[in-house]
Amino acid sequence: MQRKHIALVIGSLRRDSINRKIAQYIQSIAPASWVIDEIHIGDLPVYNQDFDAERIEAYERVRAQIKQADAVLFVTPEHNRSIPAAVKNLLDITSRPVGQSVWTGKRAAVVCASPSTFGGLSSGLHLRQVLEALGVQVMISPEVFLSKAFDLLNEQGDFTNERSQAFVQKFVVAWDVWLDRQIESKGSGTQ
Ligand code: FNR
Repeated sequence: MQRKHIALVIGSLRRDSINRKIAQYIQSIAPASWVIDEIHIGDLPVYNQDFDAERIEAYERVRAQIKQADAVLFVTPEHNRSIPAAVKNLLDITSRPVGQSVWTGKRAAVVCASPSTFGGLSSGLHLRQVLEALGVQVMISPEVFLSKAFDLLNEQGDFTNERSQAFVQKFVVAWDVWLDRQIESKGSGTQ
């Protein structure tokens, strides 16, 4: 069995985050070959280019985690029709200093959940755009934008409707197959 090192980014810092619960559900059904490592983004100082000349422990931690990953899974809300600031901060930190981006050759997938009817669509599309600018291959289909997300899970973290649950399960299987193909044709994404 080929192990896949998956870095997990949860875009919400909120204690009761629905995106965290969905990420936990995904972890609970993930294939045994996935070794999942969450990248904590809540303690990262706001990126400043002056820091390129310094060694910031929290920056080194997240850069190393992404380097070691074959792929990165984002599970994120939408903030003001875009990517949450904490996620963008992570992307800025890990794309710098110039020439030392840790993103080259990485693969990713984006899952968005929102209580709105659009399911965080703008956040997901903006995130994909940034990742593609960083040279990351992002799985496009199936796209996962979970709308009315507060109604999706019960208190135990189980889906309340089979259709949404089946869709998330389908996404996990599809990403696993897609990653296998990517790794087979272009090699592991670890650095
Ligand atoms: C939001 N929210 C939100 N939702 C949405 O669908 N589109 C949006 O543009 C925004 N904008 C926005 C801005 C800010 C600053 C906050 C704090 C929230 C609502 C958001 O979807 C809601 O708080 C979710 O619960 C966030 O997901 P978590 O934190 O539960 O994972």
